[in-house]
Amino acid sequence: MINAFWLEENTSLVKLPDGSSLYQHRQGQKISSDNQFFNDHLIERFSNQNGQVKRVLELGVGNGINVIILKKKFPDWTITGIEIDSEQAQLASYNCKVQNLGIVIINEDLRDLKNEDNYDLIIANPPYIKMGSGKLSAHERTNIAKFELTCTMEDLILAIKRNLSDAGEAWLLYKQEREEDLRENINQSNLEVIDIMKKGKIIIVGLKHVAS
Ligand SMILES: C[S@@+](CC[C@H](N)C(=O)[O-])C[C@H]1O[C@@H](n2cnc3c(N)ncnc32)[C@H](O)[C@@H]1O
Repeated sequence: MINAFWLEENTSLVKLPDGSSLYQHRQGQKISSDNQFFNDHLIERFSNQNGQVKRVLELGVGNGINVIILKKKFPDWTITGIEIDSEQAQLASYNCKVQNLGIVIINEDLRDLKNEDNYDLIIANPPYIKMGSGKLSAHERTNIAKFELTCTMEDLILAIKRNLSDAGEAWLLYKQEREEDLRENINQSNLEVIDIMKKGKIIIVGLKHVAS
Protein backbone atom coordinates (compact mmCIF):
# COMPACT_ATOMS: atom_id res chain seq x y z
CA MET A 1 0.00 0.00 0.00
CA ILE A 2 2.89 2.39 0.66
CA ASN A 3 3.97 4.14 -2.53
CA ALA A 4 5.17 7.60 -3.50
CA PHE A 5 1.60 8.90 -3.98
CA TRP A 6 0.43 7.59 -0.58
CA LEU A 7 3.48 9.06 1.17
CA GLU A 8 2.89 12.44 -0.47
CA GLU A 9 -0.79 12.46 0.57
CA ASN A 10 -0.44 11.16 4.12
CA THR A 11 2.98 11.91 5.54
CA SER A 12 5.67 14.52 6.04
CA LEU A 13 9.39 13.86 5.87
CA VAL A 14 11.46 14.45 9.03
CA LYS A 15 15.24 14.79 8.99
CA LEU A 16 17.04 12.88 11.75
CA PRO A 17 20.25 14.16 13.40
CA ASP A 18 22.36 11.59 11.49
CA GLY A 19 21.19 13.01 8.13
CA SER A 20 18.77 10.18 7.33
CA SER A 21 15.04 10.83 7.10
CA LEU A 22 11.81 9.23 8.17
CA TYR A 23 8.18 9.62 7.13
CA GLN A 24 5.67 10.52 9.84
CA HIS A 25 1.91 10.17 9.39
CA ARG A 26 0.12 13.53 9.36
CA GLN A 27 -2.53 12.18 11.76
CA GLY A 28 -0.21 10.08 13.94
CA GLN A 29 2.05 10.83 16.88
CA LYS A 30 4.61 13.48 15.85
CA ILE A 31 8.32 13.11 16.53
CA SER A 32 9.37 15.54 19.27
CA SER A 33 12.12 16.37 21.76
CA ASP A 34 10.46 13.81 24.08
CA ASN A 35 11.72 11.06 21.73
CA GLN A 36 15.21 12.49 21.95
CA PHE A 37 15.11 12.64 25.77
CA PHE A 38 13.86 9.03 25.87
CA ASN A 39 16.40 7.64 23.40
CA ASP A 40 19.32 9.59 24.88
CA HIS A 41 18.50 8.02 28.23
CA LEU A 42 18.27 4.50 26.77
CA ILE A 43 21.54 4.92 24.88
CA GLU A 44 23.31 6.12 28.01
CA ARG A 45 21.89 3.32 30.17
CA PHE A 46 22.66 0.47 27.78
CA SER A 47 25.93 1.63 26.21
CA ASN A 48 28.01 -0.46 28.64
CA GLN A 49 25.71 -3.44 28.89
CA ASN A 50 28.15 -6.05 27.55
CA GLY A 51 25.65 -8.01 25.50
CA GLN A 52 23.04 -8.73 28.23
CA VAL A 53 20.38 -7.12 26.05
CA LYS A 54 19.56 -9.18 22.98
CA ARG A 55 15.80 -9.15 22.42
CA VAL A 56 14.10 -5.75 22.44
CA LEU A 57 10.42 -4.88 22.02
CA GLU A 58 8.65 -1.55 21.53
CA LEU A 59 4.96 -1.53 22.42
CA GLY A 60 3.14 1.01 20.20
CA VAL A 61 5.99 1.62 17.74
CA GLY A 62 4.19 4.39 15.76
CA ASN A 63 6.31 5.46 12.76
CA GLY A 64 9.37 3.64 14.16
CA ILE A 65 11.39 6.61 15.41
CA ASN A 66 12.58 4.99 18.67
CA VAL A 67 13.48 1.58 17.24
CA ILE A 68 15.32 3.19 14.30
CA ILE A 69 17.47 5.38 16.59
CA LEU A 70 18.21 2.43 18.92
CA LYS A 71 19.00 -0.11 16.19
CA LYS A 72 21.56 2.28 14.68
CA LYS A 73 23.24 2.63 18.06
CA PHE A 74 22.92 -1.08 18.99
CA PRO A 75 23.09 -3.05 15.69
CA ASP A 76 23.34 -6.38 17.57
CA TRP A 77 19.95 -5.96 19.19
CA THR A 78 17.10 -7.99 17.69
CA ILE A 79 14.28 -5.44 17.73
CA THR A 80 10.55 -5.96 17.26
CA GLY A 81 7.92 -3.21 17.19
CA ILE A 82 4.23 -3.85 17.81
CA GLU A 83 1.59 -1.45 16.50
CA ILE A 84 -2.23 -1.71 16.56
CA ASP A 85 -2.77 0.81 13.75
CA SER A 86 -2.17 -1.02 10.46
CA GLU A 87 -1.22 2.11 8.46
CA GLN A 88 1.29 3.14 11.12
CA ALA A 89 2.67 -0.41 11.23
CA GLN A 90 3.15 -0.37 7.45
CA LEU A 91 4.78 3.05 7.63
CA ALA A 92 7.16 1.95 10.41
CA SER A 93 8.01 -1.14 8.40
CA TYR A 94 8.71 1.02 5.33
CA ASN A 95 10.85 3.49 7.34
CA CYS A 96 12.92 0.59 8.73
CA LYS A 97 13.29 -1.14 5.34
CA VAL A 98 14.46 2.03 3.57
CA GLN A 99 17.36 2.18 6.01
CA ASN A 100 17.95 -1.58 5.80
CA LEU A 101 17.80 -1.99 9.55
CA GLY A 102 16.34 -5.48 9.91
CA ILE A 103 13.74 -4.42 12.47
CA VAL A 104 10.58 -6.55 12.63
CA ILE A 105 7.31 -4.60 12.77
CA ILE A 106 4.13 -6.49 13.63
CA ASN A 107 0.59 -5.17 13.30
CA GLU A 108 -0.74 -6.51 16.58
CA ASP A 109 -2.65 -5.43 19.68
CA LEU A 110 -0.34 -5.34 22.70
CA ARG A 111 -3.24 -6.53 24.85
CA ASP A 112 -3.01 -9.93 23.07
CA LEU A 113 0.77 -10.17 22.97
CA LYS A 114 2.48 -13.17 24.55
CA ASN A 115 5.57 -14.60 22.90
CA GLU A 116 7.29 -17.84 23.86
CA ASP A 117 10.59 -16.00 24.31
CA ASN A 118 10.47 -12.97 26.54
CA TYR A 119 12.32 -9.70 25.96
CA ASP A 120 15.40 -8.32 27.76
CA LEU A 121 14.24 -4.76 27.17
CA ILE A 122 10.73 -3.43 26.56
CA ILE A 123 10.15 0.24 25.77
CA ALA A 124 6.97 2.24 25.27
CA ASN A 125 5.74 5.78 24.78
CA PRO A 126 2.10 4.75 25.26
CA PRO A 127 -1.17 6.64 24.88
CA TYR A 128 -1.01 8.95 27.90
CA ILE A 129 -4.34 10.78 28.28
CA LYS A 130 -7.02 9.18 30.47
CA MET A 131 -10.42 8.87 28.81
CA GLY A 132 -12.64 11.68 30.08
CA SER A 133 -9.85 14.25 30.22
CA GLY A 134 -8.78 16.24 27.17
CA LYS A 135 -10.58 16.85 23.91
CA LEU A 136 -10.73 14.10 21.31
CA SER A 137 -9.48 14.90 17.81
CA ALA A 138 -11.53 14.43 14.63
CA HIS A 139 -8.95 11.78 13.61
CA GLU A 140 -9.23 8.28 15.05
CA ARG A 141 -5.48 7.70 14.51
CA THR A 142 -4.57 10.72 16.65
CA ASN A 143 -6.97 9.59 19.37
CA ILE A 144 -5.58 6.05 19.49
CA ALA A 145 -2.05 7.46 19.82
CA LYS A 146 -2.88 9.89 22.62
CA PHE A 147 -5.91 8.66 24.56
CA GLU A 148 -6.28 5.43 26.52
CA LEU A 149 -8.82 4.07 24.03
CA THR A 150 -7.08 0.84 23.00
CA CYS A 151 -4.36 0.73 25.66
CA THR A 152 -4.82 1.80 29.27
CA MET A 153 -1.92 2.05 31.69
CA GLU A 154 -3.12 -1.22 33.20
CA ASP A 155 -3.05 -2.92 29.74
CA LEU A 156 0.51 -1.72 29.26
CA ILE A 157 1.73 -2.94 32.67
CA LEU A 158 0.12 -6.34 32.05
CA ALA A 159 1.76 -6.63 28.61
CA ILE A 160 5.13 -5.83 30.19
CA LYS A 161 4.62 -8.41 32.95
CA ARG A 162 3.76 -11.12 30.39
CA ASN A 163 6.62 -10.39 28.00
CA LEU A 164 9.59 -9.19 30.10
CA SER A 165 12.36 -11.68 30.88
CA ASP A 166 13.15 -12.35 34.56
CA ALA A 167 16.19 -10.07 34.57
CA GLY A 168 14.81 -7.67 31.94
CA GLU A 169 14.03 -3.97 32.16
CA ALA A 170 11.15 -1.93 30.81
CA TRP A 171 11.44 1.82 30.22
CA LEU A 172 8.37 3.99 29.71
CA LEU A 173 7.81 7.59 28.67
CA TYR A 174 4.82 9.30 30.30
CA LYS A 175 3.54 12.77 31.09
CA GLN A 176 4.45 13.78 34.64
CA GLU A 177 0.76 14.23 35.52
CA ARG A 178 0.36 10.41 35.31
CA GLU A 179 3.10 9.62 37.85
CA GLU A 180 0.71 8.91 40.73
CA ASP A 181 -1.48 6.60 38.57
CA LEU A 182 1.64 4.86 37.36
CA ARG A 183 2.96 4.26 40.87
CA GLU A 184 -0.45 2.82 41.88
CA ASN A 185 -0.50 0.48 38.87
CA ILE A 186 3.07 -0.63 39.55
CA ASN A 187 2.27 -1.29 43.23
CA GLN A 188 -0.56 -3.58 42.17
CA SER A 189 1.68 -5.51 39.78
CA ASN A 190 4.67 -7.68 40.54
CA LEU A 191 6.97 -5.04 39.09
CA GLU A 192 9.09 -2.43 40.84
CA VAL A 193 10.56 0.92 39.88
CA ILE A 194 14.25 1.05 38.91
CA ASP A 195 14.38 4.82 38.55
CA ILE A 196 12.30 7.83 37.52
CA MET A 197 13.79 10.69 35.50
CA LYS A 198 11.98 13.99 35.00
CA LYS A 199 12.30 16.67 32.36
CA GLY A 200 9.70 19.40 31.95
CA LYS A 201 6.30 17.68 31.67
CA ILE A 202 7.81 14.28 30.93
CA ILE A 203 8.92 11.35 33.07
CA ILE A 204 10.90 8.28 32.09
CA VAL A 205 10.24 5.31 34.34
CA GLY A 206 12.27 2.11 34.54
CA LEU A 207 10.63 -1.13 35.73
CA LYS A 208 11.76 -4.67 36.51
CA HIS A 209 10.23 -7.78 38.04
CA VAL A 210 10.30 -7.92 41.83
CA ALA A 211 13.01 -10.45 42.72
CA SER A 212 11.44 -13.70 43.93
C1 LIG B 1 2.08 8.09 21.93
S1 LIG B 1 2.15 7.09 20.46
C2 LIG B 1 3.90 6.70 20.40
C3 LIG B 1 4.42 6.36 19.03
C4 LIG B 1 5.96 6.15 18.95
N1 LIG B 1 6.35 5.01 19.72
C5 LIG B 1 6.70 7.39 19.44
O1 LIG B 1 7.37 7.31 20.48
O2 LIG B 1 6.60 8.44 18.76
C6 LIG B 1 1.42 5.55 21.02
C7 LIG B 1 1.34 4.47 19.95
O3 LIG B 1 0.72 3.30 20.53
C8 LIG B 1 -0.14 2.72 19.56
N2 LIG B 1 -1.14 1.87 20.26
C9 LIG B 1 -2.25 2.26 20.95
N3 LIG B 1 -2.90 1.19 21.45
C10 LIG B 1 -2.18 0.08 21.10
C11 LIG B 1 -2.35 -1.32 21.31
N4 LIG B 1 -3.39 -1.80 22.02
N5 LIG B 1 -1.44 -2.18 20.78
C12 LIG B 1 -0.37 -1.69 20.04
N6 LIG B 1 -0.18 -0.37 19.79
C13 LIG B 1 -1.04 0.52 20.32
C14 LIG B 1 -0.74 3.93 18.85
O4 LIG B 1 -1.32 3.60 17.61
C15 LIG B 1 0.50 4.83 18.75
O5 LIG B 1 1.23 4.57 17.57
